[in-house]
Amino acid sequence: MKKEVRKVVIAGNWKMNMTPSEAVTAVKETAALVEGKTGCDVVLCVPFVDIAVAAEAAKGTNVKIGAQNVHFEAKGAFTGECSASMLLEAGAEYVIIGHSERRQYFGETDETVNKRTKAALAAGLKVILCLGEVLEERQAGITAEIVSMQTKLDLAGISAEDLKNVIIAYEPVWAIGTGLTATPDQAEEVCAIIRNVVCGLYGCCAAEALTIQYGGSMNDANAAELLSKVNVDGGLIGGASLVPAKFAKIVEAAQ
Ligand code: PGA
Repeated sequence: MKKEVRKVVIAGNWKMNMTPSEAVTAVKETAALVEGKTGCDVVLCVPFVDIAVAAEAAKGTNVKIGAQNVHFEAKGAFTGECSASMLLEAGAEYVIIGHSERRQYFGETDETVNKRTKAALAAGLKVILCLGEVLEERQAGITAEIVSMQTKLDLAGISAEDLKNVIIAYEPVWAIGTGLTATPDQAEEVCAIIRNVVCGLYGCCAAEALTIQYGGSMNDANAAELLSKVNVDGGLIGGASLVPAKFAKIVEAAQ
């Protein structure tokens, strides 16, 4: 399968930004700017409390709403967590799992990322699974080993059928929120490594169909070049997704 037939997905990760009323305004502004841009899927991953109002504001537009985390249990005594069915009913179609900030600050491991991914897929959410090396790992020359291991552990036990609802976001941790971007060649190299690992796990047809995003300081100025790479099928965008005009330019670059 060629790049042109893979689904390109441009997703915003608002992180801990936007109150519900701010979210409504930002979703409406974004939706107006990306209207008719059907060359890629457009997703905004918003804080839990924004999901319902964001989904309402996105109705009838080509913007889809996602969450930024999900718990693996269906319900129970897990203070501060949300289940997949809660997210779905609130209006989320997507969920980010394994973001490096969750791994760094909240003790997320490949094991919990895998459990959360399985629960999200079983409930019918689409998953944006994040992985990537930290600076020390890149400097030590072990990026390929790290992302290969993460890919295998995070996808363990997930069926080929369920993989169709997974997007992998390659996010080098050193590039997130730092203004440092991987060069297009660095992004391409690692996305190709991930696709190759998926080929070994699921066969090359499944791997060729998989959307692999790049994330880490992607913005309106560097998106076109990153997205022109054969194995880069979209972006996961933090900072620049908070400004609808900037985010819309990235969507434009993906057309
Ligand atoms: P950034 O964040 O675009 O602000 O670097 C990307 C991400 O964390 O997904």
